[in-house]
Amino acid sequence: MCGIIGVTGEADAVPLLLGGLHQLEYRGYDSAGVALVADGAIWRARAAGGTDSVAKLGELTAGAPNGHAAAIGHTRWATHGSPTEENAHPHTDCTGRLALIHNGIIENHAELRAELEASGHTLASDTDTEVMAHLIEAQMAGGASLPDATRTVLGRLRGSFSVAVISADEPDTIVAACRLTPLVLGLHDGMTLLASDIPALIGHTRRVFTLADDQLAVLTPGALTVTTLDGEPVEPVERAITWDVEAAQKGGYEDFMSKEIEEQPVAVRDTLLDRRGAGGELILDEMRLGADELRDIDKVFIVACGTSYHAALVAKYAIEHWVKLPTEVDIASEFRYRDPVLNERTLCVGVSQSGETLDTAEAMREAARLGAKVLAVSNVVDSSMARAADGVLYTRAGPEIGVASTKTHLAQILALELLGLYLAQLLGTQPAAAIDGVFDHMERLPDLVADTLRRADDVDDVAAKLTDARDFFFLGRHVGFPVALEGALKLKELAYLRAEGYPAGELKHGPIALIEPGTVVVAIATRNRLWEKMLSNVAEVRSRGATMVLLAEDGDEETAAAADHVLWVPPTDPLLSPVVGVVPLQQLAYRLARLHGHDPDRPRNLAKTVTVE
Ligand code: G6P
Repeated sequence: MCGIIGVTGEADAVPLLLGGLHQLEYRGYDSAGVALVADGAIWRARAAGGTDSVAKLGELTAGAPNGHAAAIGHTRWATHGSPTEENAHPHTDCTGRLALIHNGIIENHAELRAELEASGHTLASDTDTEVMAHLIEAQMAGGASLPDATRTVLGRLRGSFSVAVISADEPDTIVAACRLTPLVLGLHDGMTLLASDIPALIGHTRRVFTLADDQLAVLTPGALTVTTLDGEPVEPVERAITWDVEAAQKGGYEDFMSKEIEEQPVAVRDTLLDRRGAGGELILDEMRLGADELRDIDKVFIVACGTSYHAALVAKYAIEHWVKLPTEVDIASEFRYRDPVLNERTLCVGVSQSGETLDTAEAMREAARLGAKVLAVSNVVDSSMARAADGVLYTRAGPEIGVASTKTHLAQILALELLGLYLAQLLGTQPAAAIDGVFDHMERLPDLVADTLRRADDVDDVAAKLTDARDFFFLGRHVGFPVALEGALKLKELAYLRAEGYPAGELKHGPIALIEPGTVVVAIATRNRLWEKMLSNVAEVRSRGATMVLLAEDGDEETAAAADHVLWVPPTDPLLSPVVGVVPLQQLAYRLARLHGHDPDRPRNLAKTVTVE
């Protein structure tokens, strides 16, 4: 997954491209490059430098030509071909008169490459992308215009793409298209822009349009035409933009992750806003799925990846408890390839911060094919999942830039639990007073999260004592289990430490063999209904010499007595407790990452939005 940006009609295009690439670095940063048309030729610069790629590109482009012609830029997350300069985008054709950037994967690239090489083309990179440049070259050599050549070539591709092409022969034009990966277009005062995502554009324009799958756009200065890949004209759909540039930037914090952790009370509060009608009943208006459609449901399936999957696991406990509906949770990449049993009475919920994760999107598509009603829980307004699903419930966490999800995780738990309460109201499985009671607890969560955040120094003290530790176990039971999984994932992805999340009751069936002096065990020991059993599990590992870090509720001295270190949290309704409990675990991972010298915003080998399988 990569980030792309382009502009035509801007006199000083390179600074605009570099600014956009910085905004898009969350999509990958193995290499970065720009190309533009100047003096009748393509001018290109590329840099491969890991986390410094865009900065290096800035140095390389210091002497770039100016002009109002077409210009494109790219930041890469390597899939086909290692992260070298040769494999960095933009790629050119044999003549060097055409340059192209791409996000996605061309699945039939090998056969297309063989065909091109057989007809005399020389490919300079190992990427799947480069075949497109040469195929367009061949079409243009036969007399086709840049848009027509691109249209013909895209029709031959299998896989996913958002792509932008420029040619020295049509200096003002950018041709762009997408399938299964996002592309947004912008218009402002004589200039026309494109990007993978809205934050890269909002500093320049508020007039933003989204391109749908298999649509092709021709951008010229101040103008935009959109057609299908078959050439049928399409009216581009304008999107309302509510974000400002400031919201997408660090706002004075050292990094995006600490900013986003601090924003969690607001993310939780906003996700709860306007969810109750005048009579106190829950309303989920934006969801699009009507009450009649939902009343029929006899099963819920939730599909997701990564941190979103952990939010889904929390929701399973809540929905089964409140709604008494069987609720299955599956990792999207597994769900897709087995034979899940679901039908028109199933509600399939796809949970995704970005709304673009390929495995989740495809799992939802499979559920729809099997007849299920499909609901997206997405943080990005108008994401591909939001548009493809029958309904959508937005987490209102604002843009999340840090690669590892934090504030959107809390918002996802809340959104899914709201869905659970709504279903309970609709199906009459809980009395109104009980639903009110839970909602009241939800409304107190922003304060409880803020209270927890104020204890960051205590977490830092614990982290300082664990800097030499290399092996961590995170244990939980009931809703504490997904919290343990999330705590372990955060430590892996940010601090690169070996960490396993486990249901505490299962420990004695194997993993306890790994416990020895020096192992750190973080146990979620808040007072859910399995708290006493949890303390027994804690005793089992403590007696084998583990260093015990216990997450305990304020004032719970009995739990604290079993701990070497305590992470205190304020109490809440047990089913809502993950919203509070996960916070010190995020902080612990963040602090250990910093103590080990790692950049929490850009964990190695990871990317924010994963649009490959
Ligand atoms: C990547 C991110 C994770 C995220 C996961 C799922 O792995 O690093 O933080 O949880 O993708 O992303 P999604 O956008 O679908 O929630």
